[in-house]
Amino acid sequence: MLHKDKIAVLDFGGQYAHLIANRIRRLGVYSEIMDPESETSQLNDFAGIIFSGGPHSVYEKNAPLFNKKILEMGKPVLGICYGHQLVSYALGGEVKPGKVREFGRAEITISESPIFKGISPKNVVWMSHGDSVAKFPEGFKGIASTSDCPVAAVEHSAKKIYGFQFHPEVTHSAEGMKMMSNFLEICGCSKSWDMKSYTNAIGEEIRTKVGNRNVFLLVSGGVDSVVAFALLNKVLTDKRVLGLHIDNGLMRKDETASVMDYMKKHNFTNLNVVDASGKFLSRLEGVHEPEKKRKIIGDTFIDVQREALDNLKLDPEKWILGQGTIYPDTIESGSTKHAAVIKTHHNRVPIIEQMIKEGRVIEPLAELYKDEVRDLGRELGLPEELIERHPFPGPGLGVRLLCSDGTLIAPAEDDSAKAVALTKEQGYNAYVLPIRSVGVQGDFRTYAQPLAVEGNLEWNALSNLSTTITNAVRSINRVVLVLKRRNTLQPELYKAYTTADRLHLLREADAIVTDFLHKEKLYSSIWQMPVVLLPVGNGSEKDSLVLRPVSSSEAMTADFFKIPEKALTSLAEKLIVLPGLSAVMYDLTNKPPATIEWE
Ligand code: XMP
Repeated sequence: MLHKDKIAVLDFGGQYAHLIANRIRRLGVYSEIMDPESETSQLNDFAGIIFSGGPHSVYEKNAPLFNKKILEMGKPVLGICYGHQLVSYALGGEVKPGKVREFGRAEITISESPIFKGISPKNVVWMSHGDSVAKFPEGFKGIASTSDCPVAAVEHSAKKIYGFQFHPEVTHSAEGMKMMSNFLEICGCSKSWDMKSYTNAIGEEIRTKVGNRNVFLLVSGGVDSVVAFALLNKVLTDKRVLGLHIDNGLMRKDETASVMDYMKKHNFTNLNVVDASGKFLSRLEGVHEPEKKRKIIGDTFIDVQREALDNLKLDPEKWILGQGTIYPDTIESGSTKHAAVIKTHHNRVPIIEQMIKEGRVIEPLAELYKDEVRDLGRELGLPEELIERHPFPGPGLGVRLLCSDGTLIAPAEDDSAKAVALTKEQGYNAYVLPIRSVGVQGDFRTYAQPLAVEGNLEWNALSNLSTTITNAVRSINRVVLVLKRRNTLQPELYKAYTTADRLHLLREADAIVTDFLHKEKLYSSIWQMPVVLLPVGNGSEKDSLVLRPVSSSEAMTADFFKIPEKALTSLAEKLIVLPGLSAVMYDLTNKPPATIEWE
C-alpha cells in the first residue's frame, strides 16, 4: 500500500473519526485513525490530515490535546466541527459559545473554493455544535454561511487548510461526500482501497493474531456474526473455527430454529447450538435498570460460552473467543479514549474488555460499519437473504422489553409542562409517559421521559413537532404518537420485569410486525424496526407497545421512518387486540436525540 495515498484522521472523541474513516474508504481511499498527539514523524507518509469533530469545547480544561507541529507540516488539512474550531484557535483565531446551539439540518450558502467544486450554491448540511469560530486566523477567509452561523466554513488557500463547522460525513449533509471527495483530490490521493484488498489485509491480521490457536465464535445468526463466521472459516478453515449459537430466551419467535436451518442450508456445518434461556431469564429476574440488564446478558453469554468449551473439552488456552462486534458497538460502549458511555453493548462488558486486553478475543469486523460488513459478506459470496437481514441487538428482546420497579425518578429540572403546552398549540393532545428511555445528545447519554401526542397522522407536522420539543425541552428525549388506545385514562406505570408472559406478548407483536414489513414490501426500505414493550397502561392492560421503524445508513444517526397511513392503521388494529395491551404508539424521534433502541 502506498502511504501517500492514505489520509490520517485525528480522533477527538465521540463517533466522528471512525465515521470519517468509513466515508473515506467509501470513496476508495485508505484512511487511518491517529492519536492527535502523534509525532509529526508518524504522519509524514500521509497525503492529508483530517481533524475530527468531538464532544468538547476548545476552552474546556479536559479538552483533548494535539501536537501543534502537525499544522506546520505543510500537508492539506480539513478540520470538522470541533476539529475546525481547534485548528482556528491554535492558529490565533477566536472561538465563542454560539448565540444558539445548532442541532440538525441547516441550509448553507457557499462561495467559490476547490473544496466546494461541483457543489450547489445553496445546500443542506448537518450541524451539531454550541461553540463556533468568531474570528478566523490570519490568511483565512470565510467560504460558507448559514442563518445561525455566519462562518460555516473557512479556507487558507495557500496552505490548503480548510475548516467546516458542519459535518460533511453524515448522510444528512446532502453533498458532504462530494466535499470530502474534493478534499481527497486536493490531497492528490489516488483510489486504491476496495473490499477485495481489505479482505486480504484483514485475513493477514487474523492469521497473525490467532497464531496457532483456534477460534470459538458466538453466532447469533445476524449479519455481523455470520459474516465474521464466514470470514474466519475462509481464513482459518472450518477445522480451526467452531461456532456456537446461544438461545438466550430473548430471541424472536422461532428464531433459533430458523437460524440453524438456514446456516445448514448454506453449508455451515461447524456450528453448535445451546439452549441457555433458563439461565438468562433467571438472572434477569427482578432487574429493571437498562445498563444492569445489558451487563447481566453480556456476562451470561461469556459464562455459557465457557461452559460449552468445558463440555466440549476444548482447552481455553488454545481457543480464543471470536465476536462479530462492529465499530458502532464499541463506540456506544465508551471504549475509545474520549467517548462517553451511551449504552454497553453485550460484546463490551468488563469481562470481555479484560479478555481483549489479554489478547484472547478476535473481532475481525471491529473497524467496520454495517454497510461495509454487508459488502464484505457479498465479497465472501454469502447469499442476499443473509446479508439483507435487519440488524438485531445481541441482547435481543431483552433491551426492547422495558422493566420497572414501579417508581419513577423525577427529572432534576422538569420542564415537561412546556412540552405539553407547545404540543397543544399545534392542535395535538399531549402527556408525558411515566417511563424513561436512553437517548444521545451532544455525544452524551440521556435517560429521560418521552412525550406522547394524540391527534392526526400528518407526518410533516409531527416531524417538526418532535424536533421542536426535543430541542426546546431538556427533560424530554423522545416523542411518540399514540396510534390506538383501549381507553382514555392517563397511563400509569406498573411494576414489571423480564417474564415469560411479557416476552411472549412482545414476541407475538414483533412477529406480526416482521410479517407486515414483508407483505407491505417495506422490509428493504427500512433499516430496522424495533418493537418495544413498556410497562405503561391502565387496569388489566398493563403494557403498551411502541413501533420504532428507522431509516439509516450506519446506525450512528437515524431518521424515524414514515410508514404509509393506511397500512399503518391496519397494523395498529392487528396489534391492539393482543391480550394485555393498552396502547400502540409510534416513535417520532430521530437519532440524535433518541437512540434506535429504547435502552
Ligand atoms: P442504538 O440503540 O444505540 O443502536 O441507536 C444502534 C445499533 O446498535 C444495535 N444495538 C446493539 N447491537 N449489541 C449489538 O450487537 C448490543 O448490545 C446492541 N445495542 C444496540 C441497535 O439495534 C442498532 O442497530
